[in-house]
Amino acid sequence: MEVSVLGLGTVKLGRNEALKYPQAFTIPTDQEAQALLSLARSRGINLIDTAPAYGNSEERLGKLLKGQRKHWLICTKVGEEFNRGQSSYHFDPEHTRASLERSLRRLNTDILDIVLVHSDGNDEAIIKDYGTLDVLAEMKQEGKIRSFGMSTKTVTGGLLAAEQCDVVMMTWNLSYHDEVPVIDRCLELNKGVLIKKALASGRATGGNASSHTSGSASGNVSSNNASLDPVTETFETLLAHRGVSSIIVGSINPAHIRSNIEAALLVS
Ligand SMILES: NC(=O)c1ccc[n+]([C@@H]2O[C@H](COP(=O)([O-])OP(=O)(O)OC[C@H]3O[C@@H](n4cnc5c(N)ncnc54)[C@H](OP(=O)(O)O)[C@@H]3O)[C@@H](O)[C@H]2O)c1
Repeated sequence: MEVSVLGLGTVKLGRNEALKYPQAFTIPTDQEAQALLSLARSRGINLIDTAPAYGNSEERLGKLLKGQRKHWLICTKVGEEFNRGQSSYHFDPEHTRASLERSLRRLNTDILDIVLVHSDGNDEAIIKDYGTLDVLAEMKQEGKIRSFGMSTKTVTGGLLAAEQCDVVMMTWNLSYHDEVPVIDRCLELNKGVLIKKALASGRATGGNASSHTSGSASGNVSSNNASLDPVTETFETLLAHRGVSSIIVGSINPAHIRSNIEAALLVS
C-alpha cells in the first residue's frame, strides 16, 4: 500500500463536541467538505482517516467520495462509539464485526484499506483479553479489509500491536516523543506507522502556520531547523524517521491543507 506522507484526518467533518481542539469550529457543509477533499486529492493526498466515533464522518465520506473510491485509501476504526456527547468503548468480537460491517455500509465500499482498534488507553488489556485483533485478522482473511492495526496510547501497547498487526497509529509531536520506540520497532518489523496529533491537535502551530517560512531557500532544510515554523519543523522531524509511513493531520481549512502539503514536500 503506497500512502502519501500526509493523510487527512476527518474528525472535524463529523463532530464538533467533546473534543480537545483549542478553538471551537463549525462543521463544514457538503460543498465545503467536497472542496477540501478535492484539494487534498489534487495535491497528492491519498489517505483519509475516519472512525465511527467521529460523529457522521464515515457517512458523509461515503457520500462525498462517491465515484472516487479508487483514488483513496480509507482508514477507519473499531472500538469507540460516540453518542449523545459521550464516548463508550466496545472491544468484544461481536461489536467489532458489527462495527466493521456498518463502516463498510456507511463508507459505501466493499473493502476497507486499514482498520484500527480505537484504544481507550488500556492497550495491553485490549490486545490480550478481548480478541479484537483476531476478529480483524479473520475479516482480513475474508477480504473485507486489506490491513489492520491499532491506534495506541502507550509504549507497551504499541510494541505489542507492532508484533501482531500490519500498522500502528501513535502520537508524536514536538513536545511529546514517548512513543518513538514503537516507531523504531515497527521499522524493524516492516510494519506501517501512522502518526496522529502531530500538531498537538492544533496547539503546536505557532498561531499562524498558514504562511510557511521558506527554510529551503538555502537548499539545506535539515541543518536550518532554527528558522523553520513549527509545522515545517514538525514534519521535518517526523518524516526524518524512516519508520513513519504517513502523518495524519486534521484540517478543515483549505489554506492550512495547502501549506501543510507544501511544508511536507519541502522536507520529505
Ligand atoms: N485515538 C485516535 O485514534 C485518534 C486520536 C486523535 C486523532 N486521530 C486522528 O489523527 C488526526 C489528527 O489528529 P488531531 O486532529 O487531533 O490533531 P492535529 O492533526 O495535530 O491537529 C489538527 C488541528 O490543527 C489545526 N491545523 C492543521 N494544520 C494547521 C496549520 N497549518 N496551521 C494552523 N493550524 C493547523 C487544525 O485546524 P484547522 O481545521 O483550522 O486547520 C486542527 O484543529 C485526526 O483528525 C484523526 O483522524 C486519531
